[in-house]
Parts: sequence; C-alpha cells; structure tokens
Amino acid sequence: MGKTLAYKILENHLVEGVLAPGNEITMKIDQTLTQDSTGTMVYLQLEAMGVEKIKTELSVAYIDHNTLQTGFENADDHEFIKSVAKRHGVLFSKPGNGICHQLQLENYGIPGKTLLGSDSHTPTGGGLGMIAIGAGGLDVALAMAQGTYSLTVPKVLKVELTGKLRPWVSAKDVILYVLQQLTVKGGVGKIVEYAGEGVKTLSVTDRATITNMGAELGATTSVFPSDENTKAYLAAQGREKDYVALSADADAEYDEVLKVDLSSLVPLAAKPHSPDNVDSITNIGTIKVDQVAIGSCTNSSYTDLMKVAEILKGKQVHPDVSLVISPGSSKILSKLAENGALASMINAGARIIENACGPCIGMGQSPKSGAVSLRTFNRNFKGRSGTLDADVYLVSPETAAISAVTGILTDGMVSGVTLPEIKEEMFNFNDNFIVYPKGTDKSNTDVVMGPNIKPFPQNTKLPEIVTGSVVLHAGNNITTDDIMPSDSRLLPYRSNIPFLANYCFEKIDKDFSARCKEAGAGVIIGGDNYGQGSSREHAALAPLYLGIKFVLAKSFARIHRSNLINSGILPLVFDDPADYDDFALGQKLVIENAREQVKNPVILLKNPETGKEYKAISKFSEQEIEMILAGGRINQIKDNE
Ligand code: F3S
Repeated sequence: MGKTLAYKILENHLVEGVLAPGNEITMKIDQTLTQDSTGTMVYLQLEAMGVEKIKTELSVAYIDHNTLQTGFENADDHEFIKSVAKRHGVLFSKPGNGICHQLQLENYGIPGKTLLGSDSHTPTGGGLGMIAIGAGGLDVALAMAQGTYSLTVPKVLKVELTGKLRPWVSAKDVILYVLQQLTVKGGVGKIVEYAGEGVKTLSVTDRATITNMGAELGATTSVFPSDENTKAYLAAQGREKDYVALSADADAEYDEVLKVDLSSLVPLAAKPHSPDNVDSITNIGTIKVDQVAIGSCTNSSYTDLMKVAEILKGKQVHPDVSLVISPGSSKILSKLAENGALASMINAGARIIENACGPCIGMGQSPKSGAVSLRTFNRNFKGRSGTLDADVYLVSPETAAISAVTGILTDGMVSGVTLPEIKEEMFNFNDNFIVYPKGTDKSNTDVVMGPNIKPFPQNTKLPEIVTGSVVLHAGNNITTDDIMPSDSRLLPYRSNIPFLANYCFEKIDKDFSARCKEAGAGVIIGGDNYGQGSSREHAALAPLYLGIKFVLAKSFARIHRSNLINSGILPLVFDDPADYDDFALGQKLVIENAREQVKNPVILLKNPETGKEYKAISKFSEQEIEMILAGGRINQIKDNE
C-alpha cells in the first residue's frame, strides 16, 4: 500500500513508536517558533528546565502579537525574550518584522521538515510541504530542550482538488468551503492532506492560507505537496537550495476523502460568530459594512496585498467604511512601497498599520458598537475584535477590498471589475530585524526579567483523593478566548498569571475567579469541543492558579486537552453525555483512589452528598499518566532528573 505524504514525513522523523492511527509516537522536531504572547512562558519553562543547549536545527522567537507597547510591560516581555533567546541560541525577530507564520514561510520553512510552534496557526508551514504543528508552550520548550515531540498519530483526510479557481474566488474561499463541509470539529484527530490536479493551480501563499485555517477545522495539521510552485516560491525568497520535491504515493490510501472542484466555488464568507458558519456572499446579501480589516497570518502575503492594491487603484474607500491594512512582513511592506502598490492603497483612503497581528488579536482597530466588520482573518469568535456586539465576517482579500469601495458586502464576480493575475516577485534578502544569538557561551548572557515577569504556577503531585466543587457549568464550543481573554487590556500581562487569573472566564461568568478563590478546589463542567481555538496555555495555567482540579466535558479540543494535562489538571469526558445536565454550581465531586484510577480508561466520580456515581472516560496514554501523577510536565521532568 502506498504512503500518504503526511506519513512519509512523520516516518522520516520517527524516534519512537509505531506509525499507525491512534498510536503514541515521538517524532524529531527540526524547527520551533514562538510568538510573544505565548513565548514568555515558553522561555520561563526552558529556563526552569535548566537547558544548556537547544537541540533543534532552528528556533525563532517572534514578537508580533503585542507590539503597541502602551506600557513598560510589553517592553519588559520583549527584552526578556530577546535576552533568553540570545542565551539559548534562538533567533530573535524584532517587533516590526512581521507575523510569525508569514516570516517562517518566507525565511525558514523547508519542505519535508517538522516545525512545532506555540501558536495554533503554525500549520501555515504546511503550505510549503512541512509537518507544522501548533502546540502548547511547554511542548515547544520541551521540543527545544529534547528535540522531540510526542503525539497520538492522527488519521489522514485527503482533500482532492480538481479544476481551477475563477477570478474573485481565492484560497480563502477554498478553506471556507472545507469548513462549511467539515465544521470546526471535522479535523479533530486528523491531518488534512491536499492532493489532486487542482493543487498545481495554487501558489504557496494560497496553500498557506488553506493550511493556516486548517487550525479552525481542529486538525492536527494540514499539508500540501512540494512541487514546481514550491520551488518558484523558495526561489523568489532567494532560497531555491531548500527545495525538495515531495508528494504522496499514487496508490496512497486515506482514512477519509473530501472532493472539491475548485471551478465550482464562489466567493464565501464565514458569518458571525464561527469560522464554519459559512454561506455564499450572494446568499448573505448586500449588508452595509462599517469596517474592513485586511491582513493577519491568513491573508497578508505579497500576492494577497497586490490583489488588494489592484482593486483599490484609482478608486476611493466608501465614506462610511474604515479600511485598515496590515502587511504580513517587513519584506512585503518594503516591496509594496517600492512598486507603488502602497501608494494605491493610501491614495484610496486605506489606513496602513504595522505589519503585526494587530486587530486580529484585538490590538487596536476594534469596530464601533454594533458594527459589521469584514476581516480576512481566521477567527470571528464573539468579542475577539474587542467589540462584544460587533458582527465579524471572515472573507477573502478580494471580497474585503471590493466591499471597502462599495460600502456593502460585495460579490466581486458580479462587480464588473477585472482582476489582473498577480505573480510572486523576487525579494531582497534583509535580516535587519533579526538578532542572532552569539555563540553558545552563556556565562556573559544575563536574562533580563522586569517586574511584570512572574513565575508560572506549579501543581502538586496528584493526591489519593481529588475533591472539588463545581465552579462553572459551561456550554458547547468554549474557546480559549472565553477561558482566558487576550484583548488589549490583558495582553501585556501574558507573563503574569496571578494578574490574568482575575479575568478568567470573565466573558461567561464574571464571578468565576472569586468563586474559585472561595471554593479553594474547583471543577469545571463543559460541553462539546471544550477549549477550541488558540493554543495559549494561559487557558490552563490561569485555572491551575485558581485551583481547578479537573474539567469534565462532553469532548475536548486537542491542544487544550494537552495543556490541561501539562498543568496536571485532568481532562475527563462524560461516559454518558446526559449526565451533563446533572450538575449545578457548588455541587461537590470526588475521585477516590485517584492515583490508581487515572491508570484506567474509565474513572468513577462520586457526589459525596447523594452518593451518586458517574463514569468519565480518561484514556490517558502512559506518558500522560506519568505527568498527571507528578502534577504536570515540569514536575515530571524534575522527578526524572
Ligand atoms: Fe497573529 Fe491572528 Fe495569526 S493573532 S498569529 S495574526 S491568528
């Protein structure tokens, strides 16, 4: 039987285990990336492990999330990351260089290599034929320390592409279509592998848009073959030497197949408030638009922004629309400035903002109350824009640009405007934004820790009896944004868990933090897909700080489940989902004989007041059991030293 491309790459990196769906394996990690909002924790953990020399081929620390520096806190974080990066042999990308995934694609991604990033959109690298996985910060710290990462082998879902996209239909519409078909849970436990004749009609930046939003499917990662288009992209970046051709075997067998005819797709939008709430622009109708935001790690490539510039050229942004554009990297911004595209944007009335995450993470440009905001980003969860009652629609750069001109949601296919074909350009090498580590001598490299950097909370060994009272009864699809908001108020405190914990779950229940402090030991009841969204481990560390012992939910998102285990918090799944309705705030739950029970696939919980018993599925791997018994990953590592 032939092999899938995903399994070929995994096989090349296999360190331990048998490569078959559901098995636990350890794989070699070639590259890591961190961004600033998760990065401070990663490097605090790396320091705590006492690592002498990182084991990856290349690791980069990016500053892209919180670049506003409205107070000393951001600057302290940046300085800490810069100093610790220098000490451990990690490249440091200064604020202003751009967004981590765009920069990794341009400068460091290599087909066939593995990348682990402390950001859920790390799979963007799959556009270059990498196995690029988003993970919790601790996993990334460990990958740097040990050069490996352990995971449960996912199934492989093939998306077979045929045909060719028509003008005004773009890669964003492809992934929105896939999201419409599979939903935000459709990729859980899977690698999405793109194949078929249609692949060669898509550029690397198109492919990267698609693999970027594979994160919204809940997929472990997504991957494209590496072909002549990959070679052309690498050549444009001055890195043709990194090219290697990669594809699945012709007779590869897949666990599932989804067929997509690119020629039949139309411009789409994800309606509020979920990336899979997708419909065609025509069906949604001509709603009035207040704000258009173009950029983010999904759609800020050179080709994306050149299309936007061409649409805006000689036109004017509608008087009622605020249009903001953030390029993905300093290289792209410099190229747009050189070739006049930037002038086309500015002359049309666009606001050019820094090449960083910016409004995607709610750092500025929050829309007005009740606004309709069209965004080329990847997430439209309620409140993520910073405005709770705003309606955010996720669209392609083409749809965003033409709608900014017309002032209404517009299907470009019927606009009568002709779109020229945009080709990738040659880029000049420029590493002026990169600080290189100096050798491996750490003796004269001090780590700089300002007053905003607080140690991360540590759990204790799992006791024989785990008790807690229900402090939250949450619904389905709770996001990590819901658990630990990351808006502009709080981003400066990403390295200060005691402060952040005061805001845990504040969007859902503003008394949560106080209730936890009163309860001492807490239990969270959750619905389906608990912890979806970003990889931020703060969503586990803040509950840990507040004394949460376990989360009992109908199902968990993959990265958040790992983050909970890393923190020594038990993620338990209802054996009978009907039990979900049985719980109320304040009710006590106890796990007796917990140290033995965690080794079993099913755990018995008891309501000590009524004596009623509940079954919960645990199914922890051997490694997870060791971590839970030790009270989290760092304790486990220390125990093994
Ligand atoms: Fe940044 Fe938004 Fe991507 S926060 S990394 S641009 S999802």
